[in-house]
Amino acid sequence: MKALAVLCMTDLLHVILPVFLSLMVTLYIYYFNESRVIPKICRQNFLHSNPQNNVAQVECRPKCEHGQFSLPGMDSCRPWLTCDEIESEIKIGEEIGRGVVKQVNLAQWMNQKVAISRLTDEKYIADFQHGLKMLTAFQTNERFTQLIGFCDTSIVTEFHQFKSADNLENVLNLKRVAHYNKVSTRFQLCMDYVDILAFLHKSPIGTRVMCDSNDIDKTLSQFLLTSDLRLVVNDLDALPEAKPGSGVKCGGRQLFGDFVAPEQLWPYDDREFDDDSMPGYDEKIDVWRIPDVCARFLGSRNGSESLQFHLHRIHRTCKNIVARKRPSSLHIRDEYERVQRYLSLNKDKEL
Ligand SMILES: Nc1ncnc2c1ncn2[C@@H]1O[C@H](COP(=O)(O)OP(=O)(O)O)[C@@H](O)[C@H]1O
Ligand SMILES: [Mg+2]
Repeated sequence: MKALAVLCMTDLLHVILPVFLSLMVTLYIYYFNESRVIPKICRQNFLHSNPQNNVAQVECRPKCEHGQFSLPGMDSCRPWLTCDEIESEIKIGEEIGRGVVKQVNLAQWMNQKVAISRLTDEKYIADFQHGLKMLTAFQTNERFTQLIGFCDTSIVTEFHQFKSADNLENVLNLKRVAHYNKVSTRFQLCMDYVDILAFLHKSPIGTRVMCDSNDIDKTLSQFLLTSDLRLVVNDLDALPEAKPGSGVKCGGRQLFGDFVAPEQLWPYDDREFDDDSMPGYDEKIDVWRIPDVCARFLGSRNGSESLQFHLHRIHRTCKNIVARKRPSSLHIRDEYERVQRYLSLNKDKEL
């Protein structure tokens, strides 16, 4: 009798234990999935705000791992589009921009607006591929345009309706955006710009210099404005690495003017320009340009003069003729934050 009871117990254990364990595993998986908060990236859309209180609509998308993308309205990330998917799922629309290397068109993917950049001429293939390599490398940083997919000579990216930063005044003049035409919005663009440079100057793949920046409009055309008027860097086709002891040269042509740093100018008055004899330079050429770019973002509204006054000291140091005496972009970023705190600039307060 006792032996029978022991036998029943062991049989019961053989049946009940696995059932109990699998129940626990199912419950755990269910609970884990339900309670796991998927990190999201949210952005206001200044074009779509409630007219009563001027509060902008918020658009969110899941935060993705490297190699994946998401767009507003998607509940999970997807791997970057492949050549086949780009070929079959992307419908190309009107041209929205063009530079020397890329022609950019609005496109549609699954009812979502995206941008497709295509190589203009085979002779620029090296620049195109370099830009793609850099964009791929820096994807986890939110201040870089989001990559959606690529194939040979096409790159699909997130579309930004306000386009590039050279278009800022037109955007701020739009009736629906005019409410955000504040010094705080403008100064945030200076902060974003310096933030991007600080990242590039200490990037995981070395000190990167933003070469394609020989005049102010060209510089601003490499950055896009998001729907909440923040800056993302988009064109990384000319991002050479400045290694200690060996400088970079931005293109093989002679440069002129005072937007470029003095060390980028041909130094010998008595000799014709010759690129081989041109000395190299480093990331401090980007620092030289910061005051001009920030002044352009700030514009000449009431309040921006007072801010410019507070920035004067740090901006003067950026213009040191001796490159190594200029501050680092990280230092400028800290100084901007200090000024922002001091003036307690925030989105709701007008200067
Ligand atoms: N994702 C995008 N959304 C909106 N406009 C874009 C986008 N990508 C590029 N553009 C527009 O196209 C222009 C040219 O793109 P860019 O990548 O700078 O080309 P290039 O390498 O030839 O200079 C940009 O200055 C911008 O106005
Ligand atoms: Mg460009």
